Formats: sequence, C-alpha cells, structure tokens
Amino acid sequence: MKGPATELIHAGEVDRTPATPLTTPIYETTTFVFENAQEVVAYNEGRSNKHLYSRYTNPTVVAAEQKLAALDRAEAALLFSSGQGATSTILLAHLKAGDEIVCGAAIYGGTLHLLEDVLAKFGVTPRFVSLEQLADPASIITERTRMVWFESPINPTLRCVDVATIAQACRARGVLSVIDNTFACPINQQPLSLGIDLAMQSVTKYLNGHSDVTGGMVSGAKALLAPIEKARRQVGTVMDPHPAYALGRGLKTLPLRVAQHNANARAVADFLAADTRVSRVYYPGLPSHPDHAIAKRQMTGFGGMVTFDLDGRFDRAERVYDRLQIVKRAASLGGIESLISLPVITSQWGHTDEQLHAAGVTRGMLRLSVGLEDAADLIADLDQALG
Ligand SMILES: Cc1ncc(COP(=O)(O)O)c(C=O)c1O
Repeated sequence: MKGPATELIHAGEVDRTPATPLTTPIYETTTFVFENAQEVVAYNEGRSNKHLYSRYTNPTVVAAEQKLAALDRAEAALLFSSGQGATSTILLAHLKAGDEIVCGAAIYGGTLHLLEDVLAKFGVTPRFVSLEQLADPASIITERTRMVWFESPINPTLRCVDVATIAQACRARGVLSVIDNTFACPINQQPLSLGIDLAMQSVTKYLNGHSDVTGGMVSGAKALLAPIEKARRQVGTVMDPHPAYALGRGLKTLPLRVAQHNANARAVADFLAADTRVSRVYYPGLPSHPDHAIAKRQMTGFGGMVTFDLDGRFDRAERVYDRLQIVKRAASLGGIESLISLPVITSQWGHTDEQLHAAGVTRGMLRLSVGLEDAADLIADLDQALG
C-alpha cells in the first residue's frame, strides 16, 4: 500500500490505456519519461521519435506545427510563444555581426524596434527601403545583405509588393528572403510557392483567430528551419502546449473563417467605397487600390482588413471610432470580432507629418479588422457611426 502523496503523484499518470483520442490531447508536461538509458542515447542520436523536454518539443505543439506545415505546403513549421518570439529567433539564428538586413520601411513596429534596439547592439545593421525600392529588389541588395524582410499587404494602407520578384532577386544573390505573412494568412497567400525562403506569421491573428492565443510561427525548408529550431531551444521562445491545443483546434476551421472574413471585408469595402462621407477606401480587392493588379496575381483572397479615410481629419475619424457599437475599439486583428484602430494613435503614434506622408498614412484613417459578425450588422454599425 503506497501513501497518498505517492498515489496522487503517480496513479493514472502514464497513459497505457487502450483509449485512442480523436483529437490531440494537451500534453501538459514539462518532461517525458524514458524506459532505459539506451532510449535516451537513441533520442540523442536522432534515432527515436520520443520527446525529451517540452522546451525542445511537445506532441501537442508538434501536432499544430504539422497542420501549419501542411497549410503552407512547407517541409516543416515551428511554433513560438509570440510573433515577436518567432521574429527574434529567426533573426538570431540566421544573422551575425557584420550582416545587413534589408527591410521594407513599412513593417510592423515591433519588428522595426527589435532590429533598431536589439539586433543593432549585436552588430547587425538594418537598412530600411521604400515600397518603390522593393519593387526593384535587385537594386537594394548589397555585398553585406544576408536577409530581406518584408510584409505584403502592409499596415495600414494594405499596399502590396510583388512577392515572386523579391524572392527571385534574393535567390539569385544567395540572400535569404523572409515575409511576414500575418495580414494575408496562408489561405489567401502562399509565399513559399512564390519562391520565398521563410514565411513568418503572428499566430495571434488569423491562424488562431479567436483573440485568445498569443503565438508566432515560421515555415520553410527543413535545412533553413534547423538553425531556428536550435536557437528556439537556446533562447526558450517555444510555444506552450496549452495555447498550441487552442491553436490546433482553431486551425481546423481556418478555411471557413478566412472565406467569411474575405466576404465580409469585401461587403464592407464596397459599402464604404460607395458612401460619399468616406473620402478613400483601401482594400486590395478593389480595382481602385494602387496594387490591385499585384494582389490579384499573387493572392487567392484579399483578406479581412479594410482601411478608410475621412478627409485626412482626425476629428472626423475619432468621432466615428467613438460611436461604433458592434465594432470594438482594440488593437490587433484577424479575430472573429471586428476591431477598429486609428493608425495615428496606434501604429503611427508620435510620427511627424513627414513620416506619415512617407508611410501613406493620414490623420483621418481608420483601420478595420473585419470579423465574422453578420455583414449587414457591421455595415449598419458603420453607417450609424458615420452619420
Ligand atoms: C504584421 C505583424 N507582425 C508581427 C506581429 C507581432 O506578433 P505578436 O503580437 O504575436 O508578437 C504583429 C502584431 O501585431 C503584426 O501585426
């Protein structure tokens, strides 16, 4: 007879029952049990599919990674504790002192600050280039360039760049191409099939889609992911099994969700474009968008993000923002709930008129992440707020 402390720790713990769950359970464990020393040796030598420690690998996390790899038609995918966790680990794994990274100037602020504040301290030089320069990628690569990092569509104007042209120019010069595919998500845009080496995303947005998980990912060839996986163990940026379970669950409905995000955003964009109270609408699916032709070529859907302008006037944008009832005033994007933000007080906070002009951002802009509510209700909400 064992004591209660021993019983409570060990009874029923190891799953040797014949139960075969339909869904992948949450392996909420930090470590894994081996039967003998030779099993550990086999693991160390890569001759075993066992797991050792959850900072390295965990079955719940691996299950979600395999779904993401399949989605991106990639050899493999890796999950991280956040989008920033993914970005920092990719940069640490593939860059060294003396390297230059060329970046689209209009990248996510967190990426920009990571490059300027952290990577620069370790001798990596970021060089920021305009959309026009990205359109001629061969001209932006120098002897020292090791990586080109960009986004398409970009925040908040949803301008797009030609992904395949950038991929080709990088490959021809032996430079690693990385796209942050967060705004499009893989249902709408498949960067690896356009020739990109690594596709990074904030899982926090469309992939999880329910506004309740923070995570990041990267997909690509195994040879390029190997150093990232090693760095992930070393810096400890792996995703935890609990959010990986929620992500794996959310991914099962991703195609349905994204199809509806696309349809709702299109309906909202059409409504705003036809409304005389709105001076300009930015949606890659509208023929009026400056990059509609590029978007049509490389995207299979135009996404759930819509930006609109009210004569460049902050007072008008603020009034609409404050009056919305269904659409929530919150940062982030890609969830089932419609969210709105004012770029000048969020992503472009503190920017000068000159910087705003360079980014194509006005003080009257509102950025809408169109959710999965009924499109008619969203349009009615916008209509009353504009009134
Ligand atoms: C385009 C883009 N990339 C990366 C990130 C960072 O992701 P996370 O917040 O999951 O770290 C964000 C977050 O807003 C984003 O919008």
